[in-house]
Amino acid sequence: MKEVDVEVREVGLRDGLQIHPVFMPTERKIAWIMAEAQAGVREIEVTSYVPPKLIPQFADAEEVTRQALACPGLTVAALIPNLKGAERGIALGVHKLNFVMSVSRTHNLKNVRREREESVADFERIVALARAQPEGSRPRVVAGLSTALGCSYEGRVAVGDVVRYAVRMAEAGADEVVVSDTVGYADPAQVRTVFKAVAAELGGLPLAAHFHDTRGLGLANVSAALDCGVRRFDASLAGIGGCPFAPGATGNIVMDDLCFMLDSMGLYTGVDLERLLRVRDIVREALPDLQMHGALARAGFPQNYRAAQSVA
Ligand code: COA
Ligand code: ZN
Repeated sequence: MKEVDVEVREVGLRDGLQIHPVFMPTERKIAWIMAEAQAGVREIEVTSYVPPKLIPQFADAEEVTRQALACPGLTVAALIPNLKGAERGIALGVHKLNFVMSVSRTHNLKNVRREREESVADFERIVALARAQPEGSRPRVVAGLSTALGCSYEGRVAVGDVVRYAVRMAEAGADEVVVSDTVGYADPAQVRTVFKAVAAELGGLPLAAHFHDTRGLGLANVSAALDCGVRRFDASLAGIGGCPFAPGATGNIVMDDLCFMLDSMGLYTGVDLERLLRVRDIVREALPDLQMHGALARAGFPQNYRAAQSVA
């Protein structure tokens, strides 16, 4: 398989669906995963190992993981908030454990009911557990830093705090750090400042970006992160997500538009754009009430568009 210039990772099945009140049938989730993998997306965060009582959308986490792991070539990732989540993932043989903590104290307390230092300690235990697994079945452990570019409770988040927790997580043994604009507050200038500062401290450790398009700056932020050397981006198909109680709020950056932008810039993602656009139908048919976004889907391809993948 040809190496990509930029890794795009689908997170819609987790970030997009987690606040959606209607359960997406397991078999539709699997159809979405398979179709998107066939369109060339090589990594998908397929679910979340959280208490099903808390988020019923993920009551089928085990089944979704098992079936996703049968998809050839796909890197299967899942969100975990604590050690228990890691144990569930390891028992299933998931490839990547995406641990979350928030850089802002209030958000971390609300989201995972922990002080930030407790989350770091949890992460250390998770790394130890992962490393105790036999080689070949050892998952990669990812440190997600939520609210790194702004917090809906605290407002601005100090760059120094983002760097501090990125370094703590790297020292704890993270295989990758994801800097996340959970609430869509970031602007490109801020992205440059934060990502440059974090990258300078992480050395060669992979650094990824997770942006939301809440205020329309998502792809501008991607462009700024690309300038800082970031080559891994989360996105959700059709930009699904957002809050059911905030009309017009969007979710993650739109996967289809992200791939189109990268492709237009000559950056190879491995994704076949036309096939990717067709995956939207699976989501629309399964959840007709879900708000879908996407400029490429709306406007179509430019005249005589030549995809980077066909040129490459
Ligand atoms: N998966 C399944 N069940 C879990 C679990 C997990 N990862 N973690 C805890 N539980 C269960 C416990 O077994 C316990 O069950 P019981 O009441 O039947 O005994 C119950 O949940 C409470 O466990 P406890 O360890 O006290 O939970 P906690 O308060 O320490 O942790 C979190 C709470 C972290 C599990 C919860 O706040 C959470 O899942 N947060 C993430 C929310 C989220 O997904 N946000 C969006 C993504 S960023
Ligand atoms: Zn998010």
